[in-house]
Amino acid sequence: MPASSEKEGLKGLRVVSFESRRSDQMAKLIQERGGQALVAPSMRSVPLTENHEALAFGQKLLSGGIDIVILMTGVGTMTLLAALETQTSKESLRSALGKTRVIARGPKPLEALQAAGIDNAVSVPQPETWREILSTLDAQGPLIGKTLALQESGGLNKELIEGLASRGVKLLRVPVYRWALPEDTGPLRDALHAVVEGRADVVLFTNSNQIDHVLRLAQEEGMESEFREALGKVVVASVGPVCSQFLDEYGLPMDLEPEQPKMDSLIAETSARGPAILELKRSLPSTTDPLRDSVFMKACRREPTTRTPIWLMRQAGRYMKEYREVRARHSFLELCKNSDLACEVSVYAAQRLGVDAAIIFSDILVILEPMGLQLEYAKGEGPVIHNPVRTPIDVDRVRPMTDPNEVGYVMDAIRKTRRSLPGNIPLIGFAGAPFTLASYMIEGQGSRNFIQTKSLMYQHPDAWNRLMSTLCDSLIGYLNAQITAGAQVVQLFDSWVGCLSPEDYRKFVLPHSRRVIRGITPGTPVIHFGTQTGTFLELLKEAGGDVIGLDWRVELDEAWKRLGNVAVQGNLDPVTLFADPKEIRRQAKRILDQAAGRPGHIFNLGHGVLPQTPVGHVKSLVDAVQELSQR
Ligand code: CP3
Repeated sequence: MPASSEKEGLKGLRVVSFESRRSDQMAKLIQERGGQALVAPSMRSVPLTENHEALAFGQKLLSGGIDIVILMTGVGTMTLLAALETQTSKESLRSALGKTRVIARGPKPLEALQAAGIDNAVSVPQPETWREILSTLDAQGPLIGKTLALQESGGLNKELIEGLASRGVKLLRVPVYRWALPEDTGPLRDALHAVVEGRADVVLFTNSNQIDHVLRLAQEEGMESEFREALGKVVVASVGPVCSQFLDEYGLPMDLEPEQPKMDSLIAETSARGPAILELKRSLPSTTDPLRDSVFMKACRREPTTRTPIWLMRQAGRYMKEYREVRARHSFLELCKNSDLACEVSVYAAQRLGVDAAIIFSDILVILEPMGLQLEYAKGEGPVIHNPVRTPIDVDRVRPMTDPNEVGYVMDAIRKTRRSLPGNIPLIGFAGAPFTLASYMIEGQGSRNFIQTKSLMYQHPDAWNRLMSTLCDSLIGYLNAQITAGAQVVQLFDSWVGCLSPEDYRKFVLPHSRRVIRGITPGTPVIHFGTQTGTFLELLKEAGGDVIGLDWRVELDEAWKRLGNVAVQGNLDPVTLFADPKEIRRQAKRILDQAAGRPGHIFNLGHGVLPQTPVGHVKSLVDAVQELSQR
């Protein structure tokens, strides 16, 4: 083929490659086909004897200092064993592991162990996520105080590490590398930026480790989601089936793969098919979705909006005449359990007020019924639990809600409400946070000093942690089922957590709230709300959430400054709504001025609308915020 027609192949396309060992050859191949090469090495090999963490683990294992080992990958297991064999004999290794509980995440590490004659490993069932790993461990007895070594695989262990920490495990992290990031990651960072900023057309992967390294660095740079999104607008080419399988496992696109897994075949195939694929991918309309693009959802993601979104906690409730009419005919629990009525009440409130989001009509306490508590909404007294949890023995009779269909009426209400709402009004699902629910379970009703709750927490920390864990397990499934049923966002209400000292929050609550938030389906924003949390807002953020709820006891601008890179919701005093509309407007403006148009502010009250509030005043607040915040 004449050189000139060859040059037409890649037609000046900007081609990124992460090839390391043969980077020069790759650059040459790209240029020969008429492409612009941007080759950024992503790997450097590490001698086995330089696997310091692995060797330190080996010493501890041989001296009997390890109780449990989790092996995450086949390649990692083989590398780990090979590194240890540079130190000790196969025999002593086999005998030391024989005395240890060994957990293999799936068949690959299991095979690697069996090949080395180690046959006491327990395998984690499909789909082999952190959830199955934790339940496999839990099934073998309590983990508190045990020393557990975790062979790490890339950057995918966050939830697992959290889950282990919340079980009181002494964790030894054992990353094993045959490959590490290059000493100088500058070129690799530049390449990632080129992809994210639209300065690349093709991205080549020539081995599977590159995928892990590239994503790890993208994560470090805080641009993983942008990088993933940017791959939707470039051609992603994989050298062969193993690499393609990895792309798939990591949730990345794969547009072409040559018949022969070789570099020159990859470039030939890319120059033959790349330009057409690129044109197609770029011509696909970037999908517009009125829900995703609504002001409320954008604010959750801290994207700029045309005005500040507003909704109100307890926007459907007794302050509305129409609600009181429905309530006159049905008890509160009947209302929650009748999905037609729940839908009607929620949609009516959102439309009457003209707010930017609806919240599902339910209550944080309904989940307690399937967990074995007798719940009643007594007339005029608020909720009461007739069999409160007071002792460790009581804790043991609380059962987790393993199947969210036990409150199937909530999911029915979400499905119906989603269908009844306009297409640009997001629906908020919600649950009580573990602390607020636990304190309700323990006190049996509202409380001023939380004496019973704190007594259990201080006197029986193990029982406290068991109760909180049971709540976490139930809440994760519950919130994810709400998302599947049609909620776009979820809010976690920790209304009572402000009764704690910062130290107690950190010790007794934070790990649990964090576990719930980390367990929520990725991509769904989480609003983390509490009241009287001014002394430990930073800890609330540490526990997680895309949006942090603020009450009126803090100044919004100061609180936001303390919180940093997160969205905020709030924070008008609900009692302001008893003032005249002029004063309401003035106070709303004060909050909007503090937010100063920065992306990521959702207007709300600092707590729920109170039952006696004049409905006209509520409407005047919504109108004022929507008008004053126009940009
Ligand atoms: O409009 C909405 O915000 C959605 C519905 C909703 C309710 N409760 C309906 C409700 C939400 C999000 C909740 C959350 C809730 N429930 C919390 C957290 C928020 C907060 O206000 O702190 C808490 C602590 C509860 C527990 C609860 N439920 C209490 C203390 C009470 C009695 C006091 C009160 O405000 O009425 C309830 C009952 C309740 N939940 C009502 C409503 C509309 C009133 C019931 C009635 O009609 O008599």
